[in-house]
Amino acid sequence: MATPVILITGCSSGIGRCCAEGMRKRGWRVIASARRAADVAALREAGFEVISLDMASGEAVAAAATEVLAMTGGQLDAVFLNAGYGQSGPVERLSRQSLRDQFETNVFGNVDLLTHLIPAMRAAGRGRIVFNSSVLGSVAIRDHGAYVASKYAVEAFADTLRLELRGSGIHVSLIKPGPIESRFQANAAAARARLESREPLLREKRYPFTLGPEAVLRKLVHACEAHNPKARYPVTLPAHLIGLLRRMLPTRLMDLILARVG
Ligand SMILES: NC(=O)c1ccc[n+]([C@@H]2O[C@H](COP(=O)([O-])OP(=O)(O)OC[C@H]3O[C@@H](n4cnc5c(N)ncnc54)[C@H](OP(=O)(O)O)[C@@H]3O)[C@@H](O)[C@H]2O)c1
Repeated sequence: MATPVILITGCSSGIGRCCAEGMRKRGWRVIASARRAADVAALREAGFEVISLDMASGEAVAAAATEVLAMTGGQLDAVFLNAGYGQSGPVERLSRQSLRDQFETNVFGNVDLLTHLIPAMRAAGRGRIVFNSSVLGSVAIRDHGAYVASKYAVEAFADTLRLELRGSGIHVSLIKPGPIESRFQANAAAARARLESREPLLREKRYPFTLGPEAVLRKLVHACEAHNPKARYPVTLPAHLIGLLRRMLPTRLMDLILARVG
C-alpha cells in the first residue's frame, strides 16, 4: 500500500509542529504548511515537505491545494486543519475588521481549502478530515467572543460535512483541546494588541490541567488511523468536564460556572 499522505496547516509552532513530527514518526508522508518564509525554511531544514500557506488568503489557499495535489499525484489521505489564533477582547470592543480577520483564518480558510481537496478524496473513495476546534467550540467564556464564534462555526461546518460525506469513505472529526502548551497565548496577546493599537502585554498564564501538544497528536492518530474515527475528541480534563456539564446543566447554571473562567 502507498505511504499515506497528510497535509497539516499551521506547523510553525505548537500543536501543528508536534503533530507534523509525530505523524512522520508513524510513517505518514507529511506535507507541512506555514505562512512565513522563515518558518517554511525551518521546516524544510527539519526534513519536511513544506508548502507556504496563509489561510487568510483565498489565492494562497487555491495555490496551496493545487501544489499539494501535484506533489502527491492527487493522493491525500488526511488533512488536519490546525492553523488558527485567538482574537480576544470583549464583544462590545471588537472591530468589524478584527472579526473578519478571525473568521478568514479560523473558518473561511478551512472551508475554502476543503472545497479544493474534497474532490480528490471523493475520487479516491477515502479520506480523513480533522478540524482542530476547541473546548470553546461548545461553550463561551468572557473576552473571547470572536474566537468562540469562530470555533462554533468550525463545529457547524464539520457537523454539516459529516452528513454530506456520509457513505463517501471520507470521515470528519473534531479535536477539542482544552489548554495546551504552545505559542497560542503569545499570538493571542499580539492579536489583542493589534485590536487595541498598542504593544502586546504578555502575561503567560498556565491554566490548570494544561497538557503538552502530544495529547492532541494522540487524538489525531486515532482520527486518521482508526477504522471508526470519532466525531469528537476532547483533549484535557477541563475539555471532558465542560463537555459533560454542557450536556447536563441548564444554561443558567453553566453561566455561573463559565463566568469564573478566563
Ligand atoms: N493551545 C491551546 O490551548 C488550544 C486550545 C484549543 C484549541 N487550540 C487550537 O489549536 C490550533 C493550533 O494552535 P496552537 O495552540 O498550536 O497555537 P500556536 O503555537 O500559536 O500555533 C498556531 C499556528 O497557526 C498558524 N496560523 C495562525 N494564523 C494563520 C494564518 N492566517 N495562516 C496560516 N497559519 C496561521 C500559526 O502560524 P504563525 O506562526 O505564522 O502565526 C501557527 O503555526 C488553533 O486552531 C487553536 O485554536 C489551541
